[in-house]
Amino acid sequence: MNGPKFAKIARKIWQHTMKRIFISGIGGFIGFHVARALKLRGDAVFGCDNFNDYYDPSLKRARTKLLAEMEIPVIDCDVVDQNSIKNELQKHSITHFVHLAAQAGVRHSLKAPESYVHSNLNGFVQVLEALRQSPHIKLIYASSSSVYGMNSKIPFAETDPVEKPASFYGATKRCNELIASSYHHVHGLACTGLRFFTVYGPWGRPDMAYYSFAKAILNQEPLPVFGEGKLMRDFTYIDDIVKGTMAAIDYGATNEIFNLGNCSPVSVLEFISILEHCLGKKASLTMHPMPPGDVPITYADISKSQKILGFQPKTSLREGLKKFTDWFVDHHQIKLPF
Ligand SMILES: NC(=O)c1ccc[n+]([C@@H]2O[C@H](COP(=O)([O-])OP(=O)(O)OC[C@H]3O[C@@H](n4cnc5c(N)ncnc54)[C@H](O)[C@@H]3O)[C@@H](O)[C@H]2O)c1
Repeated sequence: MNGPKFAKIARKIWQHTMKRIFISGIGGFIGFHVARALKLRGDAVFGCDNFNDYYDPSLKRARTKLLAEMEIPVIDCDVVDQNSIKNELQKHSITHFVHLAAQAGVRHSLKAPESYVHSNLNGFVQVLEALRQSPHIKLIYASSSSVYGMNSKIPFAETDPVEKPASFYGATKRCNELIASSYHHVHGLACTGLRFFTVYGPWGRPDMAYYSFAKAILNQEPLPVFGEGKLMRDFTYIDDIVKGTMAAIDYGATNEIFNLGNCSPVSVLEFISILEHCLGKKASLTMHPMPPGDVPITYADISKSQKILGFQPKTSLREGLKKFTDWFVDHHQIKLPF
């Protein structure tokens, strides 16, 4: 058997071997869904979260209650606590570290940069330092479409220059990519960065626009729309993000970055009209200028993820928003008008 053929078979076997995966930020929206999917396919899953109150921690606790029912152990721990993370890695013989713990939110980063320094910069370095002692563990970490910042070329490709972040949040995510790359070169850590594009779905984040839009429509409250509703976002359904993340875990790159987006941006006005349809109620819009830190469009070029990871988003916005609103009304015990 020739070398490349052997390598291909060896990779396939490795991909199907059970993995022991630690997820930071497991009580969060994406962490919760990734944990469930990994456990369901037979991997051993563990995780930590600091359950901070950036948004209602009871939602994070409710997610981890469901994880506990699936026998996924979750510890209450901040990722800056390097010793606790190291203990967990050793105790569970971890093979992969999926690092999702971060202070999220573009607009909040203009008001409270310190929490981004704590979790996204110091927290990220502490995780890498913990992993440095166990270089066999592969790191898969969350970056963001926000790294593209003021990039005017669309769609956004991984090879585009990313030197002009539009927000402090975007800057911290770009720092993560550079720091990860330096740990790869100096310490041999295997690092995969995933640039997620506006992820939405059931068990989603209350601080994100789609969640507060649904709330405003149902409560018949004015719904603030920025940039006259012309801003375009590449809304990506959670199940597609989970599949892309799992493919990145299985691929096990040595030092790569991948876009995970829907590759089909829609305007916020179009988004609201689909949401109105799903909820059977009209929104009352109030127009506002685009706030600082925001960008006019996000749009993922996914050719690299398609080619290397086999990533192919499948969920249309109509389908995804229907699943989100079904969960939303059920979770909040809301009676719909039909
Ligand atoms: N949801 C999106 O649209 C999106 C888009 C781009 C990037 N991301 C990134 O993906 C990751 C997951 O995002 P999410 O939407 O699930 O957000 P989330 O806020 O729901 O999840 C993050 C979790 O990390 C925890 N956390 C924060 N700081 C921590 C710390 N120092 N130690 C331990 N736990 C900590 C939080 O309590 C939270 O439960 C984040 O890194 C985020 O920046 C998300």
